[in-house]
Amino acid sequence: MQQENEEFAVLKFRDKEVNLPVIVGTEGEIAVDIQKLRSRTGLITYDPGYGNTGSCKSTITFINGEEGILRYRGYDIRELAEKASFTEVMYLIVFGKLPKESELKEFEHDLKENAMIHEDMKKFFEGFPANAHPMAVLSSMITALSTFHPIPDDPSHFRQDIINLLAKVKTIAAYSYKKSIGQPYIYPDPNLDYVGDFLNMMFKKSPNDPYKVNPVIEKALNKLLILHAEHEQNCSASTVRMVGSSKGNLYSAISAGVSALWGPLHGGANQAVIEMLEQIHADGDNIEKYVEMAKDPNSDFRLMGFGHRVYKNFDPRALILKQAADDILNELGLQDPLLDLAKRLEEVALNDEYFIKRRLYPNVDFYSGIIYRALGIPKEMFTVMFALGRLPGWIAQWKEMREDPDFRIHRPRQIYIGETERPFVPISQR
Ligand code: SDX
Repeated sequence: MQQENEEFAVLKFRDKEVNLPVIVGTEGEIAVDIQKLRSRTGLITYDPGYGNTGSCKSTITFINGEEGILRYRGYDIRELAEKASFTEVMYLIVFGKLPKESELKEFEHDLKENAMIHEDMKKFFEGFPANAHPMAVLSSMITALSTFHPIPDDPSHFRQDIINLLAKVKTIAAYSYKKSIGQPYIYPDPNLDYVGDFLNMMFKKSPNDPYKVNPVIEKALNKLLILHAEHEQNCSASTVRMVGSSKGNLYSAISAGVSALWGPLHGGANQAVIEMLEQIHADGDNIEKYVEMAKDPNSDFRLMGFGHRVYKNFDPRALILKQAADDILNELGLQDPLLDLAKRLEEVALNDEYFIKRRLYPNVDFYSGIIYRALGIPKEMFTVMFALGRLPGWIAQWKEMREDPDFRIHRPRQIYIGETERPFVPISQR
């Protein structure tokens, strides 16, 4: 029944007219609630790519694509990137509040205590070819984790599984890199913080190597991981929700999220951006040629790192990363011709009617690869870095989905446009 002065949308079709309730979000967003649409009218909606479809109500992230606003649990990304540690942001995103000092200490202790993976898991790495893409390794190994940590589908176990993933995925990521370059695995070091420990596992050449984590690199990576940590109902987060909605375990849902992120239209774009910039650089920095190719409807060339389904003026993360790229290269005393090329490419594109009309701007992937390069991370690992950052976001989306009072398995409808019924034809008559 409709409450007094409740707002609603009216749908009229043929002999039917229904009032559909509307839901108004904290920031004034309005959704038409169509949960009863089919039962009341026989109609369904059609929205390929879900550009107009809200899949859930969420308290995790707010994005205003017109104004370039991004907030995790109400905190602006610019403040978090400047003032927080990645482990603080993990805690905020997953548990919904900034941790007190004692809570953060306990959380970081749990992450250190659980950073090792079972020794038998190292055998899986031996089975991959040396040139296996680290995203394939990461996705497989996360599913494999569930065989070493069988989990009853019981909310009382969720925290341990969340800690297992947050603690062990960085170890798996580092091990997949070491395997690819034939160097020994470096075990997690509980004397190091989360980001420093990851860098140590990645770049310490051997147990006796006197490698020391560079604080400039550690600070830069902390910022990068925070900027990638969450982004509401993007392709990979929606995949995690979809897979999790069958009540499979958290590891399988996260593994599916890694696979979804890998695609070049999503997180795989950060590797594709560097490959694109390398291609343009090798072609005499011929920016105009590639901008024209990107505009050509008959060419499948796209300006990687440009465009976004939600951000239509600028991606706030891209602005921060563009400045961070300059700062980090200066602090490390490095030059990278691809950064200058990227800036010129951005300038040409943003003054071109094609990009202006379609409101295409650099996204989070456009400058991130330049920074990963400066930190010594190989381009095949760029999307793994994105996954490492996004892990708390995926986990928070899964947890919220499982705790949602409206929880049900995700099962969209379709419009059938295939053949009508026809009789079977024996092969002799085909
Ligand atoms: C991420 O969703 C998220 O939040 C994702 C993410 C996160 O944090 O989780 O922000 C991370 O995935 C960022 C996006 C990384 N991907 C890329 O950089 C790949 C390049 N970008 C495009 O493929 C595209 O812009 C998407 C995939 C990002 C968005 O696709 P949409 O919203 O479906 O847009 P579209 O393909 O319908 O494009 C609209 C128009 C089309 O032209 P017309 O048919 O209208 O003539 O813009 C054109 C497109 O051809 N267009 C581009 C372009 N992106 C869109 N033309 C050239 N180069 C591009 N990059």
